[in-house]
Amino acid sequence: MSQPNSQFPSRTGTPLHFRDVVEQVMKNYKHEKDSEAHQLLREAAGHKPKAFLPQTVNPEEETVPGIVHPGSTGVIYCSDRAMANGFSYSSSHEWANLGQGAPETGPLPDGPDRPLHVDIPVDALEYAPTTGVKALREAVAKLYNHTYRQGKKSQYTYENVCIVPGGRTGLSRVASVIGDVYCSYQVPDYTAYDQVLAAFRRLVPVPTALEEEASDWSNLYQLDIKQTRKDIKSQGLAVIIASNPRNPTGQVIQGEELKELVAISRDHSTTLVLDEFYSWYIYPEDEREFGKSISSAAYVEDVNKDSVIIIDGLTKNWRLPGWRVCWVIGPKNLVSALSQSGSFLDGGANHPLQLAAIPLLDPERVQQEKLALQKHFKMKRDHVLHRLDKLGLHVQIPPSSTFYVWLNLEHLPVPLNNGLTFFEELLKEKTIVIPGIFFDINPAHRRNLFDSPCHHFVRLSFGPPLESLDKGLDAIERILRRVRKEGTKNFGHSYKKSLDGGFATGSHAV
Ligand SMILES: Cc1ncc(COP(=O)(O)O)c(C=O)c1O
Repeated sequence: MSQPNSQFPSRTGTPLHFRDVVEQVMKNYKHEKDSEAHQLLREAAGHKPKAFLPQTVNPEEETVPGIVHPGSTGVIYCSDRAMANGFSYSSSHEWANLGQGAPETGPLPDGPDRPLHVDIPVDALEYAPTTGVKALREAVAKLYNHTYRQGKKSQYTYENVCIVPGGRTGLSRVASVIGDVYCSYQVPDYTAYDQVLAAFRRLVPVPTALEEEASDWSNLYQLDIKQTRKDIKSQGLAVIIASNPRNPTGQVIQGEELKELVAISRDHSTTLVLDEFYSWYIYPEDEREFGKSISSAAYVEDVNKDSVIIIDGLTKNWRLPGWRVCWVIGPKNLVSALSQSGSFLDGGANHPLQLAAIPLLDPERVQQEKLALQKHFKMKRDHVLHRLDKLGLHVQIPPSSTFYVWLNLEHLPVPLNNGLTFFEELLKEKTIVIPGIFFDINPAHRRNLFDSPCHHFVRLSFGPPLESLDKGLDAIERILRRVRKEGTKNFGHSYKKSLDGGFATGSHAV
């Protein structure tokens, strides 16, 4: 075939040669079966498509009688793939981990000292109660009343607080006490909901897709409250679970909208489970607004009657993911149910660290930490958005909260326009991001991954320190430069096999 030398404008504005265009058309994969990156994911334990038909169970994977792989969360797959590409904890400084679902943990300008020592009184060698140490439960209640409920008649007490060993344990404890009801969730949302909703088989998960495009700008990627009211009636939803602020889109429901959402629980006898792990990561345009955080606790009327369940903890806001000290707040009768599920699921949070957490919840210290965190993370967010913009990767809906950028790659040439392939290519450049499909909460993994609404996305985290962010952005720049120079023929293939057949054992969060 003759190959005229003419150039074609691409959607990125970069001229493409005819040869490249033909190549792109040929590579215009329609199905996950056409993509090496997607086939690698399907080979990893627990990531095969599942259905009710017995022949879809993979006999090589399920060799232990009665044991079925639930599928690891996305970040475990991502660390496994990073290791296949030479990542190790000793070489981690050479890598940029923009996949990291945790904030940097070192000191911040104007922030309080980092807690680096823990006293262990002899009593703390014992088990703590499954609902947590009473003094810590009191400190949590006091902090929420101080921050969100001043002047309100109904106040939280320690009986409204259950301490849990980490956010995911909090979610699991809650999911394990949800009965045989319809439980609504949205796509995209925090990856662990995928496994949590699939593992507790009594509840029936009901998805809603959040759209990037909407007529009302303020509703982009946000839960449509009017529609939710309709769904509650038409579908009989008993429980709604959502992260707010939302991982991975960085959008937040606040003010009157949040008030409306909380009112839903009263008006329709529906339980709202709000995962508020990023409640301090709010970036107001007006500097005078710094220091405010967002929680549904501000809109609850009666703390024991409104069925609002809040999950938060030291992991993100206090930047102490390693402590595994978190909490669930809600009506007293929820806390007694969680005490029961904790007695067989996890046995309670670490006793010495619960004691050490108490002074960290002092409202004055919290305010200093919040201010320092918001200023520092806003600076990092703006830096990342600015660099992405310069690379032609404009973020249409920038994050107003969390530390994530939900980046749409649709306008890049095929196959770089899908998140999983972009992720594999960045691994070759020693950079980790999280492919969007891991935020497609699809509890039984039944759909063709190419049909996922998250197919074209990756999530970039600006949790790590600035130098690491720049290293990752440099890697993205190198890839885009290569595409411009070489076209796409060198992309989408030649991926290294996983070292251990995909049986990764990490434990980080995304
Ligand atoms: C929305 C959300 N909830 C909960 C968690 C997990 O918290 P933990 O690491 O304490 O289990 C994360 C962590 O990424 C998160 O993004």
